[in-house]
Amino acid sequence: MKIFLDTANVAEIKTAASWGILDGVTTNPSLVAREGRDFKQTVLEICEIVDGPVSAEVISLEADKMVAEGNVFSAWHKNVIVKVPCTPDGLKATKILEGQGIKVNVTLVFSVNQVLLCAKAGASFISPFVGRLDDAGEDGMKMIAESVVLLKNYNYESQIIVASVRSLEHAKQAAILGAHIATIPFKILEQMTKHPLTDAGITKFLADWEKAKK
Ligand code: E4P
Repeated sequence: MKIFLDTANVAEIKTAASWGILDGVTTNPSLVAREGRDFKQTVLEICEIVDGPVSAEVISLEADKMVAEGNVFSAWHKNVIVKVPCTPDGLKATKILEGQGIKVNVTLVFSVNQVLLCAKAGASFISPFVGRLDDAGEDGMKMIAESVVLLKNYNYESQIIVASVRSLEHAKQAAILGAHIATIPFKILEQMTKHPLTDAGITKFLADWEKAKK
């Protein structure tokens, strides 16, 4: 499974990239606003750190304006993926942008039926939000399992990005269910590197090493 970082924080991206496990980055307007920096500048910096897909989200709601924004973003850097919301206009914009050779990530996806429509519109990436669905009392990972089957049934080339990841369990299940990608907040990615028995093991090995030297 590919691992993307779900952040617009350049320091976090540099750290994760230095671990050698980072395949891409997703941003959204909330994440960019949190950093308080220029959008284009931030996206360009991220593209220089990660040689993989970097999602930049449109803020327009009408298809023609999404397409115009998407054309501007994609001219910034070859790694930029245009992120559009899963609405009728978003689907329309996806079809047009993909037709122009611009890769799209359809975001704010909350049902398997939406996944089907995104695939039919030719989206390169589809982002179902598992955490927000769990918050609403539904089963986010069930949507992932069913979406993976759906894409396989018809050999769609769209890749699922498991989004709104809130826990280690979400990250693990994404891989077990065969999702192509999970986009993970830095805090959870950091937790994935750790285990208490790893730390305890290091402490014991080093103590034994010191003892043997005496
Ligand atoms: C996906 O690309 C989104 O940026 C993200 O996963 C949203 O997650 P949230 O529900 O934690 O805001």
